[in-house]
Amino acid sequence: MHRVIIDTDPGQDDAFALLLALASPEIEVLGVTTVAGNVSVTQTADNARRILELAGHGDVKVFAGAERPILRPARPVPEIHGATGIDGWDWAPAKKGAEAKHAVDWMVETLLREPSGDVSLIALAPQTNLALALCRAPAIAGRIKRIVFMGGGYFEGGNMTPAAEYNILVDPEAAAIVLNSGVDIVATPLDCTHSAPAPVGWSAELEALGSDVGRACGGMMRFFEQYGNRKYGTPSRPLHDAIAVGALLWPDLFEGKRCPVDIECAGRLTTGMTVVDWLRQTGQKDNCLWLRHCTDPVELYRRMREELARLPKT
Ligand code: BDR
Ligand code: CA
Repeated sequence: MHRVIIDTDPGQDDAFALLLALASPEIEVLGVTTVAGNVSVTQTADNARRILELAGHGDVKVFAGAERPILRPARPVPEIHGATGIDGWDWAPAKKGAEAKHAVDWMVETLLREPSGDVSLIALAPQTNLALALCRAPAIAGRIKRIVFMGGGYFEGGNMTPAAEYNILVDPEAAAIVLNSGVDIVATPLDCTHSAPAPVGWSAELEALGSDVGRACGGMMRFFEQYGNRKYGTPSRPLHDAIAVGALLWPDLFEGKRCPVDIECAGRLTTGMTVVDWLRQTGQKDNCLWLRHCTDPVELYRRMREELARLPKT
């Protein structure tokens, strides 16, 4: 059983990740924290509420966090995710808002209250909230079981610049704090997610689930693929953030190596690059399990669809 806090910026692929985590009997979602990323933090919090309510998990609380990265301006990407961040489905308005408490406060309190080594963080967005929590209460580092994040790319390069992936580029200083925190980390970078594009025509398979969740997923997938397929010339796209949840649930489907990883925060051309010491040439300590491949993407998406089918039919 994985007890998790999900830090996210929905985002269609974040929405899939949340739905997958909520559907899985092996994951207990203690709460959802949101951050400025794909869209503003107000919008990511509202999106998270809509997603939880669609999944029949309106009882899970949402906490809005940082409005911008630590040293840099926010960098929303409506050209990728649409004006709402979760375009592709006609979402019902959320019945409830985010909690009044700040995400960083709630994260710190929760990690200090729950048994040490029990709670993992799934980080699917710029890592501002995590970094602020680690600075605010460094003692949480020794209590977090594991951080599984989606971000970075080494063998694949970046998706926002030749060197940098979105989540790391937006707040490289935050990612550097997280990677140097001493917490056990599993990275799901572009190297891994690009090895696992969704099956062509997956939208129709999701719609065939016959539920609103299935229809919402089908619509979001179609929207998400439009931009990506045009940019990459591919027939389908990987659901990056959902793959990170898949990596937590099904390590048998992934290959990687523990090695030292650090972040370039000041490069002329490479700001936001995840510098992976794959050959262990720096003498630095291994701080991260870097997932390089998904070994069976067909099986990965089959399992995801099977999990999504557990969510309510309405
Ligand atoms: C990451 O960037 C965001 O736009 C996605 O939601 C995902 O977290 C992929 O590079
Ligand atoms: Ca995301």
